[in-house]
Amino acid sequence: MTTSIAILGLGAIGTVMAAHWRGLEVYCVPKQAANSHSDEARQPCNVQRRLQLSEATRSAFSDSAFGPGTSSHASELNQEPHSSPQSELELELPCWDGKQPIDWLVVTTKAAHTLTALQTLHQHSEALNKVQRILLLQNGMGQQQAVQQWLQQQNLTMELWLGTSTDGAFLMPDKDNPVRSYCYAGLGEVLVGRALQTPGQELLAVNTPLPPHLKFVPDIQQRLINKLAVNIVINPLTALYQCLNGELVSNTAYHQHFLALANEVLEASKLLEWQLPDDFVQRVTLVAQKTAANRSSTLQDIIAGRPTELAYILGYLLIQVSQLPEEQQPSIPETRKLAEQLQGKGLTVWPQ
Ligand SMILES: NC(=O)c1ccc[n+]([C@@H]2O[C@H](COP(=O)([O-])OP(=O)(O)OC[C@H]3O[C@@H](n4cnc5c(N)ncnc54)[C@H](OP(=O)(O)O)[C@@H]3O)[C@@H](O)[C@H]2O)c1
Repeated sequence: MTTSIAILGLGAIGTVMAAHWRGLEVYCVPKQAANSHSDEARQPCNVQRRLQLSEATRSAFSDSAFGPGTSSHASELNQEPHSSPQSELELELPCWDGKQPIDWLVVTTKAAHTLTALQTLHQHSEALNKVQRILLLQNGMGQQQAVQQWLQQQNLTMELWLGTSTDGAFLMPDKDNPVRSYCYAGLGEVLVGRALQTPGQELLAVNTPLPPHLKFVPDIQQRLINKLAVNIVINPLTALYQCLNGELVSNTAYHQHFLALANEVLEASKLLEWQLPDDFVQRVTLVAQKTAANRSSTLQDIIAGRPTELAYILGYLLIQVSQLPEEQQPSIPETRKLAEQLQGKGLTVWPQ
């Protein structure tokens, strides 16, 4: 039987995943349908997306995936079956009617919208009862725990999976075209694992068949923490200085700030039992060097005038520290000062 997937949040990463899953039964949960209970909003519809492929991502889409007879709901339009290499994919996804059973509901909204998007979907329909698993595929932390608690409160017993992606994609602004176009700039990997309520469930998860481009890891929580810790250093500083990742190590003044923050995060992580590697400072330096020409996602959001995910990055650390008994709370002056500076610039650092 074909795997059925519904994507909640068909933005940059959601569209990338839809492209990887073209051979499967893939649906979109449109924003307006998630927000409305009217029958009109639930009329059959299709959502179109265009995905431009870079040199680096083209190789992920071989001719064979386009061959005749491929059963695909996320179909390609206007593509010659054997015109390789592809430079652009046009995807068309049917909207999920909330009645069709779904193997994976994949949430690719920004962190702040996760719970609201799920709650709205649940409030207006029985749709979530048709879902076998939810996969939260996002940066940041805090939203996963919120969803886990909410599912328990609602007696919703589907499996909760967590994921982290190193793919890179962004919106290509094109006012003249009604179809949203994204650029899939960097081919990465998507690591996933089950959010565990009780020890021992790893073995259940390891046998779950996964859709393409997802790789199972037994320690997803640790992977999320490792990525979060790197983002806590890089993202807020690139937002403060409005600079590329590499400038955090090449500019002497920025670098001093970078080292002070990285060391503070490492110290705090010990009290929070985050189990970061002892060479964390070197590792985060390496990430900044390897991604020297990149704009962090936070800086991209600021430039595009979108809300950032800082409340789920830096804010998560501040919340975790504040929840420790007072005598155990680490002194994190650099982190606190940075949070104040960013708040002063109108950015939300504390979760709302
Ligand atoms: N982009 C990347 O390269 C990348 C890489 C790794 C990880 N990530 C992470 O992946 C997550 C998604 O990032 P993104 O770049 O894909 O963001 P994005 O392009 O803004 O996509 C988010 C999508 O969610 C939609 N949405 C918001 N609220 C919704 C709701 N209630 N119901 C249905 N859809 C809703 C948005 O619709 P509207 O646009 O209409 O508001 C948008 O299409 C973030 O946590 C990000 O940090 C991104």
